[in-house]
Amino acid sequence: MTLQRRTFLKAAGAAAAVSILPSGVRAEGAEKMKIGVIGSGNVGSAIGAVWVKRGHEVMFSSRTLEHDKALAQKLGGNARAGTPLEAARFGEVLLFAVPYRALPELGKSLGDAIDGKIVIDACNPFPGRDGEIATRAREIGAGLMSAKLLPGARIVRAFNAIGAARMGAAHEEPGKIGMPIAGDDLEAIKVASRLIREIGYEPVLIGGLEMGKYLMPGTPLAGERSPEEIRKIVDTF
Ligand SMILES: NC(=O)c1ccc[n+]([C@@H]2O[C@H](COP(=O)([O-])OP(=O)(O)OC[C@H]3O[C@@H](n4cnc5c(N)ncnc54)[C@H](OP(=O)(O)O)[C@@H]3O)[C@@H](O)[C@H]2O)c1
Repeated sequence: MTLQRRTFLKAAGAAAAVSILPSGVRAEGAEKMKIGVIGSGNVGSAIGAVWVKRGHEVMFSSRTLEHDKALAQKLGGNARAGTPLEAARFGEVLLFAVPYRALPELGKSLGDAIDGKIVIDACNPFPGRDGEIATRAREIGAGLMSAKLLPGARIVRAFNAIGAARMGAAHEEPGKIGMPIAGDDLEAIKVASRLIREIGYEPVLIGGLEMGKYLMPGTPLAGERSPEEIRKIVDTF
């Protein structure tokens, strides 16, 4: 591990220990957040459903409003449905869980609604599915490419290489499985870490957005691993 990355991880750890939250995001503890989910398929619905159970206000969105309305009705609680723009405006924190090819257009159409927002980015680039944009994302790394495509968003990459089928059940054994994450914004990392813990995973910060290249299927970090195993693998990078 480089000295620069070690220094960043130390600073991030110190920041996470201080109870400062970004303006517009309420304090930790019993406080609930407004979360916009952009893409309510396997990943978005599994993670969003757990946040609903935890009492957060979650707006689900996709290009199929009827599906999102049915999902919100099924989940009850503080679940609701809207268009991607409505969800982006609604959320203090946003989860992006769409095919990577959707990001260029979403970045343009959501515009100001994502500027300054904390975005948890679960989207993976697969050239076979997503085309040229995925090839470019793999060249420069998915974290840096997502930051280009979603300008102004405070991105934390997470939930990238664990099967969606397991995401709804991780809270049954909290902290057992680690979740490697990467981001440049210390406050965004802190808020995302809290929400990831609520899903049941122990967040393990592996570095800044340039480390997002390791957060996708097919890398040494892919799959379910303990937090310690993740740290050992990252030490070898
Ligand atoms: N499945 C996994 O195990 C897994 C695990 C980790 C990460 N990921 C990654 O997470 C992302 C989502 O995966 P998934 O399995 O949840 O996919 P999915 O089940 O196909 O869901 C994708 C969601 O995105 C919506 N969507 C697609 N294009 C959109 C657009 N232009 N604007 C708004 N919404 C759009 C879809 O609804 P409409 O088509 O109705 O709009 C759907 O709700 C992918 O990038 C994937 O690689 C997947």
